[in-house]
Amino acid sequence: MARVLVVDDEPMVRDLSCSVLTQAGHTAVGADTVAHAERELCDSPYDAILCDVNLTDRVGTVLLDHQSVARNQTAVVVMSGSAGLPVAMDVIHRGAYDFVAKPLAPGEIVECVDSALRKRDDRLRESARKAELERLVRDRTEELTRALHTTERAYDATIEALGAALDLRDTETQQHCLNVAEISLRIARAHGIDDATTLRDLRWGALLHDIGKIGIPDSILRKPGPLTAEERLIVNTHPMLGYRMISAVSFLGGASDVIRHHHERYDGSGYPDGLSGTGIPITARVFSIADTVDVLTTGRVYQAARSDAQVRAEIERCSGSHFDPDIVRSFVAAFGREERTSHERT
Ligand SMILES: [Fe+2]
Ligand SMILES: [Fe+2]
Repeated sequence: MARVLVVDDEPMVRDLSCSVLTQAGHTAVGADTVAHAERELCDSPYDAILCDVNLTDRVGTVLLDHQSVARNQTAVVVMSGSAGLPVAMDVIHRGAYDFVAKPLAPGEIVECVDSALRKRDDRLRESARKAELERLVRDRTEELTRALHTTERAYDATIEALGAALDLRDTETQQHCLNVAEISLRIARAHGIDDATTLRDLRWGALLHDIGKIGIPDSILRKPGPLTAEERLIVNTHPMLGYRMISAVSFLGGASDVIRHHHERYDGSGYPDGLSGTGIPITARVFSIADTVDVLTTGRVYQAARSDAQVRAEIERCSGSHFDPDIVRSFVAAFGREERTSHERT
């Protein structure tokens, strides 16, 4: 049964209450002041408190502020011989389980304490159920997040493998897709882009930017000499070819911006749509700088690899014509810093 603390400065009321509660099977302890009651509550836990309002040291209702009451571990029943409705409403509002008028008949004392204990048990069960539900929701959310990360890692590995396969097809530009994916992210971060979805779309778009070249005949793509005007037109269809292939894949929707627009130029002279300025998706504007940086850095059959300073000078030369000047500034600031740091280390 329950442990009940009876707080009343009238010995007769206190002793009678303790006696009837003990007869009802509870363990009842009496306290004549708030200070005495507080000592009792500190020493051992109580399931219920039956307390008078007017005590000799302080008002009994201060016991409603005790931490065990706030946690619903102790049910408080307030009794008074004189307090009216405002006090009754106040104590219920502050967490009392009941407010009863004195004097109480022996049966009423047991009944009001038992009723408060039943309500307390209901509230504890409800709190436990709510805590269990919250734990379940938390666990499921964590599981779902882990599953999503696993799925996204699988997508990422698949796209990276596809990018590496595209690099293999073009023997002159090995590692190009992987390089531009990495350089694009460095430029984007230097430019203050930190949205995870945008960065992911940029990485995937960079890895697959020339996927449309799958649809260009090898006789043109691998032609040793210069292309004719007609052949150039065919090669220039690769952004739209790639876009059509990828736009059907829903999770690559964001990446398809880079694939379609990676040959647009800031001044509007690019292809396939002739977009200009900020009309070009920002991922494509970042990517086009990365693409050129890698081509210049690694070199090609027709041109030697350039030094970091030469690459930076070339990017700056094309600022405003080929490239977005704002992003060029971010690139120069960040990559210049990296160069200085690496020189200081060596
Ligand atoms: Fe391309
Ligand atoms: Fe490229």
